Amino acid sequence: MSLAAPSITVRAPAKVNLQLAVGPAGGDGYHELVSVFHAVSLFDEVTATAADEISVTVSGESAAEVPTDQSNLAARAAAALAAASPAAAADPALGVALHIRKGIPVAGGMAGGSADAAAALVACNELWGLNLGRAALVEIAADLGADVPFALLGGTAVGVGRGDRLTPALVRGTYHWVFALAEDGLSTPAVYAEYDRLRDQAGTSEPAPQASDDLMIALRNGDPKALGKALTNDLEPAAVGLRPHLRLTLQTGLEHGALGGIVCGSGPTCAFLVTDAERALDLAVTLSAAGVCRTVRRATGPVPGPKVFVPERPSR
Ligand code: C5P
Repeated sequence: MSLAAPSITVRAPAKVNLQLAVGPAGGDGYHELVSVFHAVSLFDEVTATAADEISVTVSGESAAEVPTDQSNLAARAAAALAAASPAAAADPALGVALHIRKGIPVAGGMAGGSADAAAALVACNELWGLNLGRAALVEIAADLGADVPFALLGGTAVGVGRGDRLTPALVRGTYHWVFALAEDGLSTPAVYAEYDRLRDQAGTSEPAPQASDDLMIALRNGDPKALGKALTNDLEPAAVGLRPHLRLTLQTGLEHGALGGIVCGSGPTCAFLVTDAERALDLAVTLSAAGVCRTVRRATGPVPGPKVFVPERPSR
């Protein structure tokens, strides 16, 4: 039997919601959703090194805004995995030093924290030699947050319930994206609260959320033009209400060649779909020059879920 490696690095992608249809909040405070998740090539890397207890360090852009205590979602993922594994009974001191390298915008609506949690689950499962299957990891993921199960899956998938009951979607082709990153992050609960406030103010009662046929057909046909038209996000008015300058960011992207533009999840990152890599570069330059965002990123999707990145050999 080989020894478990002392250090494992896993790379996990960000997501954009191609559709986010929000229904009423349930008794648990969570809203009923239909969410079409799409994993894109912006990555966080999580390195898990054997240790006596669970600890977290963070580097990369906006690292200072990420908590390094036990509230960090990757630390909670490691603790939940340790608690769920039969090995924990035999070895109650299952620990890990997690190092997170941020490439996904922090509090940007792109599920960076969920990506870190998914990466930590995959890395610790390997590091501790637990051999838990995907289904067992998904069960732990669902308790950590609504976006964590998709972060384990990757690709493109339709989520219902809290957004955590997933069915992979049929997708043809690769899509080119430009992301406009904002100065400050937005809190997801704050955006949902603003969504509730706007809905109460309007006095509308929302119908049960439905997956968009136009969107699913566009994905199946590999048709970026149709996909651009079909992008929708029910949280967008709430995010724009809390950050009014996002209106100008979206408008600028749409006026300069984007096939569609949308706030990512609860925001404030804005996502623009373009036809190809060349257009992506053009739009990235335009958005930067226009000064309508803090910085830009280009990416493609869909990409697979977390992957072991640099498996190191055990030292002797
Ligand atoms: O599950 P997660 O911790 O990512 O969710 C963060 C917050 O987003 C929740 O506390 C809740 O306020 C809001 N949310 C929601 N309905 C969902 C998913 C998230 O209201 N389906």
